[in-house]
Amino acid sequence: MDQNEMKKAVAAAAAKYVEERLEAGTVIGVGTGSTANCFIECLAPFKDRINCTVASSEETKSRLLKLGIPVMDLNGVNEVSIYVDGADEANAQLHLIKGGGGALTREKIIAAVAREFVCIADESKLVSVLGRFPLPVEVIPMARSHVGRAIVRLGGDPVYREGFITDNGNQIIDIHNMSIVDPRELEQQLNQITGVVTNGLFAIRPADLLILGTRDGIRTVKA
Ligand code: 5RP
Repeated sequence: MDQNEMKKAVAAAAAKYVEERLEAGTVIGVGTGSTANCFIECLAPFKDRINCTVASSEETKSRLLKLGIPVMDLNGVNEVSIYVDGADEANAQLHLIKGGGGALTREKIIAAVAREFVCIADESKLVSVLGRFPLPVEVIPMARSHVGRAIVRLGGDPVYREGFITDNGNQIIDIHNMSIVDPRELEQQLNQITGVVTNGLFAIRPADLLILGTRDGIRTVKA
């Protein structure tokens, strides 16, 4: 299987996992990115049995609506039963780096509300130490330089993602060259910097299940 086939395979496995757990009021959280897009396609065959979804980005929302899958505002639902999303990196504890596509804040909000968080990824995303993939941080625009200086003090190299505006109207700084040995601690430290909306570490609320695509087939990892 090449990387694209792995993405399709994990998306299909996640859709099957969700379909088997569908109940009358099930709310499905849907992530953002190329793997999540494959997952959206896999929802189409049973869309008539889907009560509602919540989307982690405007892009995901429009893809769901195009397929005729109902989407609600998160404020309109009491809970999210299951959230399925990709990741840029994952470790064995199911701590993740997310936000390569810039949707980290809405993704983190849905993950916080979700009863179960299922991460789908191909095997290239599994690492022993997080940080080879630049860690995204969403910032209020006027705080960008202040946040950048604080990141340097923490030992990272901040790079402004030029020309990119998040769905929330903010900017992104990607932190390069940081080996993240304590993801929970760094997640907290970054969120303490004034002007940071949130960062792409999902360690305080990690995934519950990782469905991993490998050359030999699908593997599941539990936290
Ligand atoms: C978007 C994300 C994505 O889940 C992450 O970037 C992985 O994307 P892909 O499935 O395209 O590799 O966090 O903000």
